[in-house]
Amino acid sequence: MIFRRDRFGLGQKDAPPAPGASAGLPRFAVDATDDIGDAAQGMHARSPARARLALADALSASQPVTSRERLAGRIDTLAALIAAIEQQRAHVVLYGERGIGKTSLVHVFAETAREARYLVLYGSCGVEARFDDMFRTFASEIPLLYHADISPTADETEHNRSFADLLDEQPVDPRELADLFQKIVGTRVILVLDEYDRVADPAFRRDVAELIKNLSDRAARVQLVLTGVASNLDELIGFTPSIRRNIVGLAVGPMSEPELSEILARAEDATGLTFGPDARNLIVKMSAGSPYLVRLLGNRAAGRTLDERRDQVSGPDVIAGTEAVLAEWNAGLPRRVQSQLARPEVRGAWPMLIAAARASGTPDGWFGLHDVAAEANGADTSTIRRTLDGFTGEIDLFDREDGLDGREPRYRFRTQGLAQLLGLSAALARAGR
Ligand SMILES: Nc1ncnc2c1ncn2[C@@H]1O[C@H](COP(=O)(O)OP(=O)(O)OP(=O)(O)O)[C@@H](O)[C@H]1O
Ligand SMILES: [Mg+2]
Repeated sequence: MIFRRDRFGLGQKDAPPAPGASAGLPRFAVDATDDIGDAAQGMHARSPARARLALADALSASQPVTSRERLAGRIDTLAALIAAIEQQRAHVVLYGERGIGKTSLVHVFAETAREARYLVLYGSCGVEARFDDMFRTFASEIPLLYHADISPTADETEHNRSFADLLDEQPVDPRELADLFQKIVGTRVILVLDEYDRVADPAFRRDVAELIKNLSDRAARVQLVLTGVASNLDELIGFTPSIRRNIVGLAVGPMSEPELSEILARAEDATGLTFGPDARNLIVKMSAGSPYLVRLLGNRAAGRTLDERRDQVSGPDVIAGTEAVLAEWNAGLPRRVQSQLARPEVRGAWPMLIAAARASGTPDGWFGLHDVAAEANGADTSTIRRTLDGFTGEIDLFDREDGLDGREPRYRFRTQGLAQLLGLSAALARAGR
């Protein structure tokens, strides 16, 4: 990549704010209507403000990737997903850890399927999701012109109608819906149910399983793609033998180091900044397979680089940026937890807490003594038990649930975000060595 020193107007100062009463108050750097495009190619990229905006765009950790050009790696998973849909005509469940890239993958898959003339409908599930609402909405987005009984030369009125117009007032029933979807001709429909793990209503899950079974039995031209946080297929859809053979489960695992590096390379192209070898290595190592962390740490480090009007992100930028992230995460914890973390008995048990943090990477966060032992090389389970039990009383970092019939208890961090903080602080400590 070629870098021009003048890209950010290095050495020049931004224009001073116009005088006036509110001059000291912060403003947005760039208009929302501005299209920054690919900053590296545009003349617009000269100002630091624009480089910053390009950075926010290229390395935002809060938004999924939505286009093919932005997706790094994941070639095998995307290929497996396409094959499951196209060749196996199966329904697909994508599962993996929080923030590992399920939504991004499914958006890019949707774009790819639309190019092949599939009708892809996307729905994000919430805690409150109801089967009736969700599938009525889907049906309303399928034009009635795809109905076997409607002639393609039908008059104008038919053009504006959808499959939802054929549903009655009663709550949508999965069998009735499958009958309706069986009538689809002239296209294939993919219904994406993202964040499926969040659905709280067991009836919703039961109805979705029933729908999958009925669609498969009828060989309807509708396929479901479900995504959610889980470590295996059963966790997400429950053990339902009747639909098992109609479903392909695909794990979305940690990204490889070259794939993570690719995320940074794309950000370099978009911003004109470069990540030095040290910086790149630190970010990739500390992120441990998580594209979310690459973006978060990369963004912070690059932000500091821009602040200092430099063009190459260095190792110290990464360390300082990561420390800032940790400080923010810490500040986001309840006061009580912050002060507990500072206590000497907690500090003394730090390595054990970090092992517990690693063991807690399960979807529901519960873990057992053996899970911690596997992460804490050498520690025996009775020591681990004593330590963890010590933090379920006055210092209450963990919830404990006693096992039945003399089985081991299980534990869970009481405070959301604490395990993530411990994990990153351990990664930073390792990187600093
Ligand atoms: N292949 C990728 N290339 C570049 N960035 C990625 C990739 N996959 C994920 N990301 C980034 O990582 C972050 C998390 O991704 P995403 O939201 O897709 O994960 P998720 O598994 O759906 O998370 P959640 O479990 O919270 O729903 C986002 O900032 C996204 O832009
Ligand atoms: Mg998601």
